[in-house]
Amino acid sequence: MAIFHKYLYNINFLHTDLTTKETKESKYIMYDDLIEHRRLQAQRSVLIEIQSYRSCNDVHKYCSRYGKIKNIFYYSNSRLLRHFAFIEFEHQEHIDKILSISTHINYEQIIPVHSSNLWYRNLNKSINNTIFKESKTQFCKYTCKILQDGDIIKILKDISTISEQILSLYEATKLNDIGVRLRFYTAYQIERSFHGLFPNIAILPFGSTVNGFGKQNCDLDLSLHFEKEKIEKMNSNLVFHTKYFSITDKHRVQNVMEIIAGIMNICIPGIFNIRKILQARVPIIKFDHKLTEIECDLSMTNTSAYYMSELLYMYGEMDWRVRPLIFTIKAWAKNCSLTKDTAGPWITNFSLSLLVLFFFQQLKILPPLDLLQSCANTNDIRLVDSHIDCTFLRDITKIPQYTLETKEESLEKLLLNFFNYYSTFDFETKAISLRKGKPILKPEQCALYICNPLEINLNVSKNVKIEEKHRIQYEMRNAVWTMENQSKLKNLGLINLIFNRKEAVTVKFKESINIKKIFETDNSIV
Ligand code: CTP
Ligand code: MG
Repeated sequence: MAIFHKYLYNINFLHTDLTTKETKESKYIMYDDLIEHRRLQAQRSVLIEIQSYRSCNDVHKYCSRYGKIKNIFYYSNSRLLRHFAFIEFEHQEHIDKILSISTHINYEQIIPVHSSNLWYRNLNKSINNTIFKESKTQFCKYTCKILQDGDIIKILKDISTISEQILSLYEATKLNDIGVRLRFYTAYQIERSFHGLFPNIAILPFGSTVNGFGKQNCDLDLSLHFEKEKIEKMNSNLVFHTKYFSITDKHRVQNVMEIIAGIMNICIPGIFNIRKILQARVPIIKFDHKLTEIECDLSMTNTSAYYMSELLYMYGEMDWRVRPLIFTIKAWAKNCSLTKDTAGPWITNFSLSLLVLFFFQQLKILPPLDLLQSCANTNDIRLVDSHIDCTFLRDITKIPQYTLETKEESLEKLLLNFFNYYSTFDFETKAISLRKGKPILKPEQCALYICNPLEINLNVSKNVKIEEKHRIQYEMRNAVWTMENQSKLKNLGLINLIFNRKEAVTVKFKESINIKKIFETDNSIV
C-alpha cells in the first residue's frame, strides 16, 4: 500500500525511514549511511508535472501499472502555477520501466533526452472527468509556500517562553523531508545526465541541505566527483585510454566546468539561468531548477566542504539545542541585515554556524575537533587531494563521555549567553578555533578570524570588513539589552529580538536619554 504524504512538518530532519523512533534521543545515523539512503531514494523517484490536484488519482493509477509505488507527494509551486506528483517507487527497476514507456513529442523541436522529469497527458478523457474524492483516497495537498515574517510572528505570538519560541521557529522553518528529497532528486537528475560518459560520476549535495542547518528555501550546494570512489582494480589487465585531467589544475577544471555548464544549459530539462563563476577560488556554476524551484551551486574542487558538512551534521546531532540555536541566530542576523543573500564583506551563515558551535564548545557541550581526531580509527581516515586531513571520529556514540559536561541550560539562557559571549569577545587579538575548542592568537591581521576547521590555514571569515565586525558586536549588545528588558517590550520574546528589532532599539535609545537626564538632575542638586 502506497503512503500518501503532505508536507511533514514535525518529522525529524533526516531520520525518515532510517529510524523507527522520531524523538530527540533517536538512534544516531552515520552521515555516509544517510547520504546513501537519500541518494537511493532519489534514484527511485520521478517528478511528474500534472494539470492539477485532480490529476493525482489518474497519475497514481497509471504509474501503478508499471511499478510498486512507495510514497506519493503532491505539491504545487509557490505561485500556484504548476502542480506535481513526486513519486517514489519501491525499486529502481520500476523507474527504468516508467522511462521505457514514456515518450517524446514534437521530435523536430527538441533534444530528445531521457530524464525522470516528466509530464502527464491524459489520453483517456473519461478518466480525466472522474471527480477526485479526497475523502476516499489519502492524497494530501501541499503548497510550497515559504513562511514569511508575518506567518512566523503569528506562530511565535502565542508561545509564552523564549525557549519554546526558539524550538517553534526551528520546527516551522527547517528544511523538511520533501525539501531534502527534492534536493537529492535534483542532484541525481544531473548525475544521471552524465552517466553515459562517466558511469561512476557522483553529484553529491553538501552544505545546509545535509548538515541539518538548512531552511526550507535554502540553496542546494553540489559537488561533482568523476569517480565516487577511486579504487584501482589491481587484478585487471585492461586499462582505459584516457585524457589528462587534474583537479589541482585550475585551468583544466575551468574548461571542464565550462563544458558541463554548456551541456546542462542545452540538454537538461528544468535547468535555467546558468551563471558561470569560474575565476573564483572555488569555481562554481550557479543555476535555477525551475521544476523543483531550487537555486543550485555546483562545484568540482570542493571535497573538503563535503566533509565539513559531515562535521557540522555530527555537531548538530550531538546536542538537540545546537540546531534550534543556529536557526535563531541565523534568523536574527538576517533581520539585522548582518547576513545578505549575496556575497560581500559581511558575515555568512556558515561563519555564524561555526560561532555557535564554538560557543557550545566553551560550555563543554560539544567536543573540540582535536578530540574527535584523536579518537578516530582507520575507517575514519579521509585525505582530500592528498593534503587536507579530514580524518575524525565518525561515530559520535563513541565519544568519551567524560570529556563533555551535561549542562541543562535552557535555549533562552544559551541564546542570551551567546550574545553576551561574543559582544565582548576580543576579536582584535583572538581567533576562533574549533579544532582546539578555545580562542587562539590571531595568525594574521583581519577583522574577524574563524579558522577553517579542516583547511587549517584558511580563515572562513576573511571577507568580513572591520565595520561589519563592529556592527555584529553592536547588534549583539542590542540583543542582550532586548532580552534583559522583555517587560518593557510587551514580553514578545523572539518577536522583539528578530522582527521588532527597530522598535526595541528605539525604546533602548529613549531610555538611555532618560538616564542621561537623571544624571543631569543629580548634578544640579549637587
Ligand atoms: N564551506 C566551507 N568553507 C567556506 C564556506 C563554505 O567549507 N569558507 C562549506 C561548508 O560545508 C558549508 C558549505 O560549504 O556548509 C556551503 O556553503 P554555503 O552555501 O555558503 O553555506 P550553507 O552552510 O549551505 O548555508 P546556507 O543555508 O546559507 O546556504
Ligand atoms: Mg548553502
